[in-house]
Amino acid sequence: MRVLLLGATGTIGRAVLHALIARGHEVVALARSEASAEKIARLGAAVIRGDIGTPERWLPDLPDVDGVIQMACDFDSAMGETERRLLDGLLPWLAASSRKVRFIYTGGCWLFGPVGNNLATEVSALSPLPAFAWMMPHLQHVLESTSIDGIVIHPAMVHGGDGGVFRRFEQDVRERRAIRVVGSEAVRWPLVHCDDLADLYALALERAAPQSTYLGVATEGVPVGEIARAVARRVGVAAPVIDIVSEDAVAQELGEWARGYACDQRLSGAKARKELGWAPIHLDPTRDVMELCA
Ligand SMILES: NC(=O)c1ccc[n+]([C@@H]2O[C@H](COP(=O)([O-])OP(=O)(O)OC[C@H]3O[C@@H](n4cnc5c(N)ncnc54)[C@H](OP(=O)(O)O)[C@@H]3O)[C@@H](O)[C@H]2O)c1
Repeated sequence: MRVLLLGATGTIGRAVLHALIARGHEVVALARSEASAEKIARLGAAVIRGDIGTPERWLPDLPDVDGVIQMACDFDSAMGETERRLLDGLLPWLAASSRKVRFIYTGGCWLFGPVGNNLATEVSALSPLPAFAWMMPHLQHVLESTSIDGIVIHPAMVHGGDGGVFRRFEQDVRERRAIRVVGSEAVRWPLVHCDDLADLYALALERAAPQSTYLGVATEGVPVGEIARAVARRVGVAAPVIDIVSEDAVAQELGEWARGYACDQRLSGAKARKELGWAPIHLDPTRDVMELCA
């Protein structure tokens, strides 16, 4: 298939780009800077220059595509409005295409809210963090549109690749011999390795039924303190100080979206395993995160 990938230089996007090319797909990726364009070209995709917030400027350069994967996000206060402009421009454009395009939309585990001990699945009610509430109409738009084949993937917290959030743990412990953990060490994060998640995106592109939703979760919920302490051991700090910081403090430092770090969750990835044959192999996140810090 020929696939438009939005967000190809990100933590998830790089892995997805790699997986798509390895499976023989042709990828066209959007780059909003020269540096991103160079990275994308090195990874083997064709580049279209542009910003997701101004699709009218780059849509005329877009060749016919069979699929689109949206995972571009700036995590700033305008991210909802930026994505709305993307969907308002892109979806009618795809609807006018001669083929029915498969459109994979990226949500996220934080849309399920703090489910705690209740193992959430694709049919659980969504209760998004306020910073991501703008995604709700976008999810609905993608899943209800009859002019595209919409599919939603909600990734768990991602490890592997450039490390994502776990890189911050490593920096903390190297610089201060202390790790900042939001809320409590007992807060559980559902996890997935970026390469496993990339396989799920590829499988969904190839096989998922239109209007379906999948949780990209390899490990249901791991206490964040366990991972923080493993990172510390890996860099040679046997007894790290764990600094518990409040949600308000992290929101002030990074933005309202970062309140998600305090979300205690257990999520199930069983549906993708059963329906798509997804078989994640990174099932020991503590070991993987430690390898990252080697
Ligand atoms: N990482 C996780 O743990 C996780 C978990 C659940 C859900 N998610 C969701 O997955 C998506 C991707 O997350 P990520 O961690 O891979 O993000 P990331 O590493 O920050 O990457 C974001 C990507 O989006 C691109 N981008 C941002 N704003 C853009 C714009 N205005 N125009 C064009 N490209 C733009 C960036 O390109 P540049 O090269 O130009 O910066 C980059 O390729 C997000 O929606 C996030 O909420 C992530």
